Amino acid sequence: MNPSRRLIIAIDGPAGAGKSTIAAKLARQLGYINLESGAMYRALALKAIEHDLALDDEAALVKLAHGSAITLEPTRTGNRVLLDGHDVSQRVREADVTDAASKVSVHPGVREWMVARQRELGAGGGIVMEGRDIGTKVFPDADLKIFLDAHPDIREKRRLLQQQISGPLAEQVAAELRQRDQRDRTRANSPLAPAADAIVLDSTDMGEEEVLVRIDEHIQKKLRGH
Ligand code: DC
Repeated sequence: MNPSRRLIIAIDGPAGAGKSTIAAKLARQLGYINLESGAMYRALALKAIEHDLALDDEAALVKLAHGSAITLEPTRTGNRVLLDGHDVSQRVREADVTDAASKVSVHPGVREWMVARQRELGAGGGIVMEGRDIGTKVFPDADLKIFLDAHPDIREKRRLLQQQISGPLAEQVAAELRQRDQRDRTRANSPLAPAADAIVLDSTDMGEEEVLVRIDEHIQKKLRGH
């Protein structure tokens, strides 16, 4: 057994499946850093909004990306997101940026830029990177690939609870989530799908602790060299 081996762990899956919570806890348990790749798409989307760019203008978005510094800084409470040196961690979680990030992320040129940055960030290992294409594209040779899914109704409920949304706004937010899901799964470039060698975990009827125990079993196996 070689517990000092610093693994690359990929956690992919749709919004609301519990990726962020699980990835953060797992990273803490292992003494690894947790990298939220989605936050990088969000940061670029924010810059596109600020520059009034059309979100379907791939060439302009790629140019914008190339002139941008987008960094993730892991903290105990999640990633700090820096866009050109400014902390945009809160702003990138707002609804307009969430929607724009989903649109920006369909473009192959944008994804190419993101994937290169994400590979740099995770190259040293000792990371848990979460996203949509980490196991399929960013780190196809990751030591462990988890695809975390859950029934759409449950994912919607979790999202609404997390954002403390109820009443008439809830249906709108749920509909937007379904729309983004559909966009993620059907885009031509790196659509959301489990890698062939991913371990698929359905958290519909599983609590956080159970998911973590299941993942830990796989990690221990990896560290034993299986
Ligand atoms: O995980 P998130 O909700 O912060 O992601 C924001 C958007 O970025 C989401 O619409 C999907 C997209 N994304 C992606 O295409 N690939 C990733 N690796 C991470 C996120």
